[in-house]
Amino acid sequence: MERLRMAVVGAGTWGKNHVQIYQAHPFAEVVAIADPVPGKAEALARELGVPASFTDVETMLDGCDCDAVAVVTPDFAHAEATIAALKRGRHVLIEKPIATTRADLERMTAALRDSDVRVMVDLHNRWNPPFHEAWRSVRTGAIGEVQSAYIRLNDTKWVATTLLPWAAESSILWFLGSHSVDTLRWIVGSEVRRVYAVKREGVLRELGVDTVDLYLTTLEFENGVVAQMENGWITPDSNPNVNDFRCSILGSQGQININASNHQLMELFTPGKLTVPDILVQNHVFGRPAGFAYQSIRSFVDCLLTGEDFHVTVGDAIRGVEVILAIMESAECGLPVEVDYQYPDFA
Ligand SMILES: NC(=O)c1ccc[n+]([C@@H]2O[C@H](COP(=O)([O-])OP(=O)(O)OC[C@H]3O[C@@H](n4cnc5c(N)ncnc54)[C@H](O)[C@@H]3O)[C@@H](O)[C@H]2O)c1
Repeated sequence: MERLRMAVVGAGTWGKNHVQIYQAHPFAEVVAIADPVPGKAEALARELGVPASFTDVETMLDGCDCDAVAVVTPDFAHAEATIAALKRGRHVLIEKPIATTRADLERMTAALRDSDVRVMVDLHNRWNPPFHEAWRSVRTGAIGEVQSAYIRLNDTKWVATTLLPWAAESSILWFLGSHSVDTLRWIVGSEVRRVYAVKREGVLRELGVDTVDLYLTTLEFENGVVAQMENGWITPDSNPNVNDFRCSILGSQGQININASNHQLMELFTPGKLTVPDILVQNHVFGRPAGFAYQSIRSFVDCLLTGEDFHVTVGDAIRGVEVILAIMESAECGLPVEVDYQYPDFA
């Protein structure tokens, strides 16, 4: 394969980014876009010069000549398009989380077992420069043996009330907690054995969005590490960054502290307002997508073309979902819950 022909499912905010990233890649192109909302894929295809658009995924897959499919539908709607692509032997990049229910995990793992294509899930925080450096430092033994970790990844209310029309059908655990769990598993280098979570609700419901405000979770890993994880969707909209993102890793001989909310590289003061411009996540340099949230997507293309292993395995994504299902159960019943891993055959 010298050139990768991509089809994109979901013509929303992030689907548009996917299209632009493939178009900017020297060895990729976008041949089709699908979105169930009439006119939406067509409008994006026209805007970005994509040759074909569809309202139905299966019709697109049967009618376009693509090598791989990017599934960029809302969090709860990743299974149908993924299974349709797998059945037709197309490689798949699935936006995080891979699924939000045990039922979807069952259907997706069955389809994965029946296919021999390559699948990656876009858990992009592994490409986030300070987190990549933290992972590397832990691997080289710079802080000794990891003892505990703290990670906080919150969004402003605006994301739940305004940006995502489907926020009530997801939650902060699926939207951002999927990144937090993956980051912890990756850096700690072990699986989560047991979780204890507490949730609070009401602020978003008052604002008309029927979803949980925040989860505070303790996670115990197989290797003895204990972590605290905070995920909330009610950070004030006045926060200079849409994310409120901190992390500490405590080792037997050292510590790593990350403040990814305020990168302290640039502050922009305009009349009456201070902002911290995004120069690491979704930024562009000379019109080309440059941030780490774009590098993960580009990496999917690169690894398919070179044959290298993906930096996130399907097993990583599946186990992350199983951890979140345990967190939700714990927050519901008020007791610690052992994570129920049902797919050990996925590496
Ligand atoms: N990796 C990242 O940095 C990142 C950032 C933002 C969003 N995301 C993920 O990308 C996915 C899409 O997010 P978004 O912000 O683009 O959402 P969005 O609402 O802007 O776009 C989703 C699109 O999917 C379409 N769609 C396709 N199939 C659908 C179905 N079965 N039901 C309902 N709608 C369907 C909708 O019409 C809509 O156009 C989510 O899973 C989200 O978590 C990832």
